[in-house]
Amino acid sequence: MKIKSLMCLCVSAFLAFAAQTQELASDDIKSRIQPLGKVHVAGAKAETAASGPRSGTQIYNKSCVACHSVGVLGAPKFQDATDWAPRISKGLDTLVEHALKGFNAMPPKGTCGDCSDDEIKAAIEHMIEGL
Ligand code: HEC
Repeated sequence: MKIKSLMCLCVSAFLAFAAQTQELASDDIKSRIQPLGKVHVAGAKAETAASGPRSGTQIYNKSCVACHSVGVLGAPKFQDATDWAPRISKGLDTLVEHALKGFNAMPPKGTCGDCSDDEIKAAIEHMIEGL
């Protein structure tokens, strides 16, 4: 009888130990997965914060160069005073508005759908810089 109850105690002690170990193991797995998720999210946030508004040069090279480098469909060419002079005389605000909304064959935002108004303005300033 004594031996039996001792065995019983041992078994329950073992079971309690096993259950605890398992809990620890799953906690361990959770804690291993968590930092990975956190690191990933933190990295994505840092990337967004670091990118901020793009420069006029970046936007021009990405979205405007295709037409404005060689003057596709009569687009005023990059830093070409003859092409830009009559347009600059309309005022920068008008140029920005036309670039944002589209103007004849000039597509709205120059096809840069994710460009902010400021980024479009910066791209125009880059195209007419020094003129
Ligand atoms: C698909 C070709 C194309 C792309 C891409 C393009 N443009 Fe144009 N853009 C034109 C054409 C064509 C005109 C001339 C329209 C006219 O005067 O009839 C023009 C004219 C302009 C003008 C002068 C508007 C005015 O009032 O005289 C500005 C400013 C301008 N584009 C800015 C941009 C910017 C900034 C980008 C890039 C974000 C861009 N364009 C991308 C074709 C393009």
